[in-house]
Amino acid sequence: MKLLLFLLFISVCNVSWCQYDEYDSHWWIAYLHSQQYSYGPSYDYEPVPALPTASDCPQECECPPNYPTAMYCDGRDLKYMPYVPARIKYAYFQNNHISAIPDGAFDNATGLVWLALHGNQIVSDKVGRKIFSKLRGLERIYLQHNNLTRIPTGLPRSLHEIHLSSNQISRFPSNSFEGLENLTALYLHENQIQEVGNALKGLKSLVHLDISNNQLRKLPDSLPGSLEQMYMEYNQLSNVPNEYFKSYPRLQYVRISHNRLTNDGIQGNTFNTSSLVELDLSFNQLNRIPPVNTNLQHLYLQGNKIEEFSVKSFCTFVDITSFSQLQVLRLEGNEIKANAIPPDTPLCLRKADIIHM
Ligand SMILES: *[C@@H]1O[C@H](CO)[C@@H](O)[C@H](O)[C@H]1NC(C)=O
Ligand SMILES: *[C@@H]1O[C@H](CO)[C@@H](O)[C@H](O)[C@H]1NC(C)=O
Ligand SMILES: *[C@@H]1O[C@H](CO)[C@@H](O)[C@H](O)[C@H]1NC(C)=O
Ligand SMILES: *[C@@H]1O[C@H](CO)[C@@H](O)[C@H](O)[C@H]1NC(C)=O
Repeated sequence: MKLLLFLLFISVCNVSWCQYDEYDSHWWIAYLHSQQYSYGPSYDYEPVPALPTASDCPQECECPPNYPTAMYCDGRDLKYMPYVPARIKYAYFQNNHISAIPDGAFDNATGLVWLALHGNQIVSDKVGRKIFSKLRGLERIYLQHNNLTRIPTGLPRSLHEIHLSSNQISRFPSNSFEGLENLTALYLHENQIQEVGNALKGLKSLVHLDISNNQLRKLPDSLPGSLEQMYMEYNQLSNVPNEYFKSYPRLQYVRISHNRLTNDGIQGNTFNTSSLVELDLSFNQLNRIPPVNTNLQHLYLQGNKIEEFSVKSFCTFVDITSFSQLQVLRLEGNEIKANAIPPDTPLCLRKADIIHM
């Protein structure tokens, strides 16, 4: 019996407070000092001895002593948020069963820089409206793979990256991302977003935007001029307004594959913009190759209904100095006959390494 008790003690000991003995056997004395031990009115007395770093770590989590600003609570079957001590900057709660983030959850941890909450079951109705109000230095938040139906309110303006993919977000209020002047990457793929409107306009540092796998019928009304990568594949887009890309002079990578684009919906010079390097329009309903700029290097058009190979879509005219920079062109799964390639094609596409027919 004694042996059994001893073993039990050891096993309890392993997962909770006994671990601190390893680096400071007196941590609990310090703890008592700070918590209860009092010689009457405490204010004018000597300062409370500092706690060893990990004594404030929630039992369920791990706070490595050699990395005092990090707290690991990931993959532990947690159903609730453990508290976050004030010194923590990097908090990892991913892959648990957490469904609620109550107001006050991060009230002490005002120095948080990274917050990982992905792979939980967080529902929008259980996210406190003020959870972020004290987080003035938060740079990255990971909320992908949860049960959110709307974008959390009051996101800190300090954010650089927001991960909200693989939720059930459909509502997208226009002030969702207000004031996030340092946001560079926004991940919203695999949700149920139907319309974005002007909600992204003010994100003046945004470089990477992923809204693929949603239900968009219309491109955002306006995007930030800083944007370089726009991923919109797997939506329900049937058109791109003429001149749309002219407003985004830094845009280099555009993916609109697996949508419902037709040539009627992309009239004029929509994709003939000099900044584009890669354009993916595969798996749409195009029957002609749209005009593209000579600077374009990768063009994906496989899985459309293109009938004719028109070299004029790449080069309005061809000479020594005027030719296309295209390196990769994919056209397989269309209706072009292999013998229908015009003879001046090699002159225009002289940089092409790979042409898939
Ligand atoms: C914040 O710190 C106070 C004082 O140490 C403590 O009483 C409270 O429980 C803490 N709250 C959270 C959410 O960690
Ligand atoms: C979250 O979504 C999953 C899958 O749809 C579901 O099984 C689970 O019950 C949901 N959790 C909550 C808290 O709503
Ligand atoms: C954005 O970044 C700049 C430069 O690092 C910084 O000075 C500014 O305070 C940041 N803005 C916000 C809202 O955090
Ligand atoms: C693309 O636009 C430029 C300048 O606006 C124009 O000169 C060129 O002919 C256009 N390219 C095609 C393939 O229409």
